[in-house]
Amino acid sequence: MEFIRVCAVTDIPEGAQKIVQVGVHKVALFHFENKITAIGNACLHKAGPLGLGKVEHKYEGLYVTCPWHGWEYNIQTGAAPPGYKDQQSLYEVKVEGDDVLVSTQPVKKAHRELHDLKIIEDLVKLDYLTTPDSKNILGISTTNMNDGLPRYSTSEAALELALAYAAEKHGASTKMLKLRELGFRACEGYYSQHMNACTWPCSITEMQPDDGMTQVYRDMILWADVVLVSTPIRWGNASSLYFKMAERLNCVQNQITLKDRVLIKNKVASFIITGGQDNIQQVAGQMMVFFTDLGFTFPPFSFLGWSRGWTAEDMDKNIMQFKQSEYIKRTAKEMVDNCMETLSQIKHVHTENIKAPKPHKEDSFSSGVINPDMNV
Ligand code: FES
Repeated sequence: MEFIRVCAVTDIPEGAQKIVQVGVHKVALFHFENKITAIGNACLHKAGPLGLGKVEHKYEGLYVTCPWHGWEYNIQTGAAPPGYKDQQSLYEVKVEGDDVLVSTQPVKKAHRELHDLKIIEDLVKLDYLTTPDSKNILGISTTNMNDGLPRYSTSEAALELALAYAAEKHGASTKMLKLRELGFRACEGYYSQHMNACTWPCSITEMQPDDGMTQVYRDMILWADVVLVSTPIRWGNASSLYFKMAERLNCVQNQITLKDRVLIKNKVASFIITGGQDNIQQVAGQMMVFFTDLGFTFPPFSFLGWSRGWTAEDMDKNIMQFKQSEYIKRTAKEMVDNCMETLSQIKHVHTENIKAPKPHKEDSFSSGVINPDMNV
């Protein structure tokens, strides 16, 4: 077997780890318990850098945890934890004098098992449920409240009005998601390590398919033709639950950067924004920027707003006036009519002709710069 010198022994003292180049492969070297061992650096999941992972005693062995999404490998055998059959490539290591040598070929080859993603297979395969004739209207209510102490929500009430009208007047299929009932994790920022670490379906969804965002992805990406998002105004912005959902939609937009793949096609969005005081236009602008970046189309006049001005601290009267408002009843319907008219037009758009003028990874000013720790 051939060996190649990768570093000096002094470069990797007890308790250290290091990523080295062996031919065309990157290899993660570990020096723990007086033994230097080497496994492939590219995690079998999405090629995260194992050499940057944390090494700990677990499962009666020494395991490294991938810093991207937590897959684990025994640093002495390359094996996955008990119960998993994945095998990371394992290299032989020799120490000669002050030199650390690694075999040029793995003594155990990498092998990745098929992992059961059946629960989210429709998302993986993008099994769209829309048809040329479908009229599927998804309402997403982003207001938060204590379900043990339910209260009247102006934004949700307007959304209910709009959905009822869409079903009655346009024969649409309607669905309402209330984010507060879904119980979903906040984005954990995998993208900030590497664009490939932010996956579709979302990394969190892969790890925890019963996370509440699975329902949002399924209904928004696969089922809906029209998405109506309602939000209260909280300190001049959309609700915190709206932003929690928006951050988890980074994986949808990231597919454009990674694969030039637009997941949202021929879909219309509009917004319901209500507050006791003001800032409707700022909230609408922020939401529209995000939703257009996902690929949604807007009808003209794509939001309904309600507020009573800066001095309107008497919130009890806000609800009273909202319930009596003919303006709300009328504009909720007009917004739906605008969405349906726009939908009937965009159903005929050839989406293959629509380009996403977004940066691709090769557009970065540093795309030619190599990060020695990364595998991709
Ligand atoms: S767990 Fe390693 S890349 Fe996902």
